[in-house]
Amino acid sequence: MNDDPISNDSDNPCFEQLLAVLPGHGRRRRRLLQFGLGSAALPFFGWPALAATLARPGIGFSPVAASTEDAVRVPEGYALQLLFAWGDPVSAGPAFRGDAENSAAEQAEQAGMHHDGMHFFPFVSQGQASSTHGVLCVNHEYTDENLLHPDGRADWSPAKTLKSQNAHGVSVIELELKGSGADRRWQVVRPSAYARRITARTPMKIDGPAAGAGPMRTADDPDGKLVLGTLANCAMGVTPWGSYLTCEENFNGYFKGLPTPTAAQKRYGISGERAGYRWHEHDRRFDVASEPNEVNRFGWVVEIDPWNPIAAPVKHTALGRFKHEGAMVTLAGDGRVVVYMGDDEPFEYIYKYVSRDRYDAGNPASRAGLLEVGTLHVARFAADGRGQWLALEHGQNGLTEANGFVDQADILIRTRQAADFVGATTMDRPEWIAVHPQSGEVYCTLTNNRQRLAADAANPRAENAFGHIIRWREGGEARGDAAAGRFAWDVFVLCGDPQHADPARRGNIRGDAFSSPDGLWFDRDGRLWIQTDASGSVLGRGDHERFGNNQMLVADVFSGEIRRFLTGPKGCEIAGLTATPDGRNLFINVQHPGEVAGGRANAAQALAGSGWPASQFAELTGGRPRSATVVIRRQDGGVVGA
Ligand code: FEO
Ligand code: CA
Ligand code: CA
Ligand code: CA
Repeated sequence: MNDDPISNDSDNPCFEQLLAVLPGHGRRRRRLLQFGLGSAALPFFGWPALAATLARPGIGFSPVAASTEDAVRVPEGYALQLLFAWGDPVSAGPAFRGDAENSAAEQAEQAGMHHDGMHFFPFVSQGQASSTHGVLCVNHEYTDENLLHPDGRADWSPAKTLKSQNAHGVSVIELELKGSGADRRWQVVRPSAYARRITARTPMKIDGPAAGAGPMRTADDPDGKLVLGTLANCAMGVTPWGSYLTCEENFNGYFKGLPTPTAAQKRYGISGERAGYRWHEHDRRFDVASEPNEVNRFGWVVEIDPWNPIAAPVKHTALGRFKHEGAMVTLAGDGRVVVYMGDDEPFEYIYKYVSRDRYDAGNPASRAGLLEVGTLHVARFAADGRGQWLALEHGQNGLTEANGFVDQADILIRTRQAADFVGATTMDRPEWIAVHPQSGEVYCTLTNNRQRLAADAANPRAENAFGHIIRWREGGEARGDAAAGRFAWDVFVLCGDPQHADPARRGNIRGDAFSSPDGLWFDRDGRLWIQTDASGSVLGRGDHERFGNNQMLVADVFSGEIRRFLTGPKGCEIAGLTATPDGRNLFINVQHPGEVAGGRANAAQALAGSGWPASQFAELTGGRPRSATVVIRRQDGGVVGA
């Protein structure tokens, strides 16, 4: 709980105030306050049982200072290893050539560009999950064409289009921790039977209510059930049955729209001015004038089986179509699957999917259809600290044919418009969502929104330059079940400088100040890890000077303290994190080192911003800045962050 005053002078109460006015709260409130959690929700168990299980993990490292160096910095007593950079082979494929000289075909066997969400899947033997051997799935969110090709965008061609498509998607690699003592290092296993590259051209299935619907059919796929590729793969999720979810975010930028787009296309930012990737010049799928429906086949959550390299990924339309950030999966008390998802754009929404059927860990067959048949909801945050999940279901909440929604497929393909219709709350760019492993509290980063003119309760600062983290407890005070239709919420932290000259822009961080929270993840002990993505246009300047490069911090959600764990190289964002089951190996991604304000306009600029990772790791020489996965271990072998 954060006791600092919130620089929000609206009438919405904080959690303590809410507790005081809710009926029947006296006794429970005292107990909660004794425990220091200040929570209204009681997820999963009665309070005494829950209280007994809630560990307070604490933060055990000395903070690192804000930095503008071209290097990753971690606390004293920690060691870094560069693991998997753009262009590294996923298996026994071709090595990276330093001036981006690899061909399109070679790129299809190498790490893609701009690593984002990822997850470590351990090998399991005799019921024991390994912390030294596993499979890592890594998203490659987008490409910088000026870095990807030796001469950047010059003489745009089919070969450059193909290389760009092959640098998107997901890498699946096998990892093993080898050696002993100071020589212990993670290695990518090459060759590996599990290794795989999924690109913007990999065949994948479409399931759920929109599969096969008219707007999903194309000339190449008249059934509307098979699509080539995934792209704009931002954050991720993990299912209880051990599959990986990768989320399609800014898909609109790949499509050349019509001079006069339809209302639905406009709502997703598809217009005649976009398509900076220029794929449409050599691949008609990305030219809306030539193939009007291909664009409807992107903007989904995609499931990948990390253990079966020949299994086709599946796009699950039941989870809605928008600019998906991540897909945080948890289970309701009765075993229904719940997926929390943000739509990362200013004034977009927070969503929750609840499966119809229940997952039973003892019955693997029970997983079938869990991401195919269910109800998508969108959040409305009321000013009194309560909230409601509104079903986006045909026939409910006015989503009828008379109101322009033909059927469930239509609602899902035009999720944003359905959410507009039911009156969801517009948020300040919802990014990652994390669920506390014990209490079930849900946290969501709202990265920033300078375009907000008027504050409201859940987005309490106009011109929100620094972002905030909101949280909620499902069921309000009654029962914290993840499938609940209502919730109680508060703001966990307002980011930014607590000493800002303008009180309306002041943050209330207790500890190390930062801006623009994005990646968010609870470790197994309940430490909340926060990654930042302040854009190149503000990094190190003006209001952002004091924060230095983008970074990663750890929050104690009980005390509200936040401590800086890591700083990244110049121009990067820190994106994606996962750990081995024992918590002793933490993997993070450094994305787009060297990015400058407004993106990299040409090849020369692409090379000028940063020399990372070669600037830090002696085993590399020269070459281009490369997004990469880094492993962090404690020199004494202990749990990272503890
Ligand atoms: Fe891909 Fe919203 O970050
Ligand atoms: Ca992000
Ligand atoms: Ca970004
Ligand atoms: Ca971001």
